[in-house]
Amino acid sequence: MNIQFDKIHKSHLFAVVVGAFCLPVWAESGLDQQNQQQFPSQYNSWLATSEQTEKQDLLAAYPASIILWAGSSFAKEYNSPRGHHFAVADVSHILRTGVSVEQGKKGLSASCWTCKTPDAPRLMQKMGVEGFSAANFTDLGPEIKSVVYCSDCHVNGSEKLALPRPHAQNAMAKIKLPFDKQTTSMQGAQVCGQCHVTYYFQPEASNKVNIPWIFGSTADDIEKYYDTRRFYEWIHPISQTPILKARHPEFEHWSRSKHAAQGVTCITCHMPPAKDDKGNDFTNHKVGNALASFDDTCAACHSSKKAITASLERDKQQIDAKAREVEGLLVKAHFEAKAAWDGGATWALMNDPIMGIRHSQWRWDFAMASHGLYAHNPEEGHALLDKAIEQVTLSRTLLALILKQVGVDKVDYPDISTKEKAHAVIGFDKDGAQKAKDDFIKQQVDKHWQPVALHGYEQ
Ligand code: HEC
Ligand code: HEC
Ligand code: HEC
Ligand code: HEC
Repeated sequence: MNIQFDKIHKSHLFAVVVGAFCLPVWAESGLDQQNQQQFPSQYNSWLATSEQTEKQDLLAAYPASIILWAGSSFAKEYNSPRGHHFAVADVSHILRTGVSVEQGKKGLSASCWTCKTPDAPRLMQKMGVEGFSAANFTDLGPEIKSVVYCSDCHVNGSEKLALPRPHAQNAMAKIKLPFDKQTTSMQGAQVCGQCHVTYYFQPEASNKVNIPWIFGSTADDIEKYYDTRRFYEWIHPISQTPILKARHPEFEHWSRSKHAAQGVTCITCHMPPAKDDKGNDFTNHKVGNALASFDDTCAACHSSKKAITASLERDKQQIDAKAREVEGLLVKAHFEAKAAWDGGATWALMNDPIMGIRHSQWRWDFAMASHGLYAHNPEEGHALLDKAIEQVTLSRTLLALILKQVGVDKVDYPDISTKEKAHAVIGFDKDGAQKAKDDFIKQQVDKHWQPVALHGYEQ
């Protein structure tokens, strides 16, 4: 209780400072002032996500992923998530989103804004969902005024929960669990699940965001959907595999967990109850580290913090080790496939091993891209990676036979032990890309975008 008070007191102080920065942007909407005055504890704890500045360079941590994502922008830069207050600035600065496109050319879709800001659903209402997704990401940059905000989860100006994103409404209609039929507890998880969920850009619908749940939300169900539609995100430049990409399926993994079965949701663990300095209860909106609030959340059901921490640590280590094993096998498979193609193998021969790489890498990605998987659903994490190992191993057995058949007796596996080496292998000019990005920030973002796009990057 004392500790909690201390924490909130600190975030109040912080809020005053951050608030002063942010006011010029948000103050233009009277509703923002209303939210701030009517719900100060929620508002100030929401502002405090700005304190969660840490992020990890995941390509440096796992350079093999650069090879697996070769041919896509994921191989350029990929970091772990951090506080909601950085959502707009981080997506603006990352090398994946590049720079402005030349007039008349098609650039990255504005769909990338969908899960960063309430301005996305606002613009969708104005432009139509496909009008929005058909626009370029950088062209809409100046329109983006806010990070993840009250109105992303609530009917603005009230505490009533809401689901403003059409892709999430559609997905829940598909599985016949519409938002207004859900319990309040489920609605809580669902507001997170608008963004912390896997998706793809629908090519036949101007790149609008779609959640691929027609057959269900497991890796098998989604793979069936993609395979039936012969969908792929890109053709892998080394092995020619039509690749599938998972994006942060936290909602999916949680939904099948032991915790979900007990009614423990994202909110239970990431938005614990708190007390303001007058002793009134409120929900802490500083969405972040769950273990840090063990006493307010986990302790209701788990008595020993030591045992839980040890269990989490064990699952994390085991899942990490297995993921590294799959990466190693998949990298080998991509280069073995290249050697087979170079040796004159045909699609008739290569179809099965290439599909094996596709399916194995899909499962690895469905685990890898799910932040906190070891805590949310370690059983599924293990199962995905075990299956991925099985699939890539079979694929490599077939590739070995094909290599023999086409008379290739040596495969070159390049050194990819660091991020720099792996980038060199795929021919990515990081310094050039960084320079172009820096120029873009100076010429466009600094001058024409809202201050929120620079939050945390101010010089
Ligand atoms: C990421 C989603 C999300 C965002 C952003 C968000 N809220 Fe909430 N809020 C929730 C959830 C979920 C609950 C319900 C907690 C419960 O009772 O299970 C909640 C509860 C509340 C409540 C009810 C009282 C309480 O504290 O439980 C108020 C008032 C509120 N929020 C105001 C705000 C305001 C103001 C903002 C913007 C500064 C905001 N919220 C931003 C998800 C969000
Ligand atoms: C509008 C989209 C959106 C919604 C709604 C949303 N998030 Fe997020 N969340 C993000 C984005 C984007 C990031 C990464 C921000 C970054 O790294 O710049 C993130 C980051 C996080 C992080 C990492 C925080 C850290 O400090 O490491 C957690 C945990 C999290 N979200 C949990 C939740 C929970 C729980 C909910 C529901 C209450 C929720 N999010 C609702 C988009 C959203
Ligand atoms: C049983 C408690 C629990 C539930 C339920 C839960 N989480 Fe988590 N989550 C954790 C723990 C523990 C971690 C590991 C890091 C930490 O301590 O926050 C984590 C990690 C995360 C991360 C990664 C944070 C980072 O910086 O890498 C995100 C994002 C996240 N959770 C979102 C969600 C969402 C969205 C939901 C609901 C769909 C959810 N969580 C449900 C406990 C939970
Ligand atoms: C409302 C009760 C409840 C809350 C709150 C809760 N848990 Fe759990 N937790 C459970 C139940 C029930 C299980 C499943 C027990 C089983 O079936 O083996 C479980 C299992 C676990 C396991 C797996 C244990 C093992 O050894 O297999 C971990 C780890 C865990 N919880 C962590 C957390 C963390 C961390 C938090 C807080 C952020 C938390 N839990 C909050 C009820 C809860």
